[in-house]
Amino acid sequence: ARALMPGPVVLAPTMGALHDGHARLLGAARTLAGPRGSVIVSIFVNPLQFGPNEDLDRYPRTLDADLAMCAREGADLVFAPAAAEIYPGGPPEVSVDPGPAGQRFEGEFRPGFFGGVLTVVLKLLHLTRPAVAVFGQKDAQQLTLVRRMVTDLNLDVVIEPVPTVRDADGLATSSRNRYLSAADRAVALALPRALLAGQAAADGGADAVLAAARAVLRAQPALAVDYVALVDPGTFGPAGTGSALLVAAARAGTTRLIDNLALVLPAEGAGDAAHH
Ligand code: PAF
Repeated sequence: ARALMPGPVVLAPTMGALHDGHARLLGAARTLAGPRGSVIVSIFVNPLQFGPNEDLDRYPRTLDADLAMCAREGADLVFAPAAAEIYPGGPPEVSVDPGPAGQRFEGEFRPGFFGGVLTVVLKLLHLTRPAVAVFGQKDAQQLTLVRRMVTDLNLDVVIEPVPTVRDADGLATSSRNRYLSAADRAVALALPRALLAGQAAADGGADAVLAAARAVLRAQPALAVDYVALVDPGTFGPAGTGSALLVAAARAGTTRLIDNLALVLPAEGAGDAAHH
């Protein structure tokens, strides 16, 4: 079927409850596909990536509004299967092991999460056979692990990252933001503020970045911080010098949020020099 397509097939995998960040994801997919290619949007709330105490049952489902956005953004096909179509025999016996990078950060706070994500992404890639698949940079560790899966398992697909979209107050768009009360949201804003403070301190080196971010978080004790760390974007191991990601996760009320910003760490010693 692929050979009959006049242009590339681009897949945008989602769990629905589409927001402005998804609009950008679908817009990027449309651009990559070009006028002769095809954009497929998958909408599937994947039970395999939710822990027993997580929000699978209350995860927002807004299919009519999602279909309207897909049409608006020029999608050619929406694939919205039922759980029984993707997992006819229940959870699969064979699944993808996300490896060591899947155990850190999100993987530590959400055991089984990345195994569930990578397994469904692999299935969606096989079911739709895209040349390109787009993933948002807000879920940075997911993006890193998808790329690692593509490399390690020799998948024939190009992964394209799409920048995070922020609301006017700085909060990264997320389907879970709709859980936030106005008071929770005010608390949650310390997360992007902390990342910006860290990013602004990058010339001072890793310690300065983390100190600046932590100072902002300490000033908002109602925000329960799971982690704040500097990582190598390619591995989610410890950051060296050069390109790094400042990643953080925190809970405002009962809503868990993640966010990240890219920055460049100076070579050893350069941080000190910047202060003279
Ligand atoms: O990022 C998401 O929405 C999900 O993790 C994904 C990639 C669609 C897999 O279920």
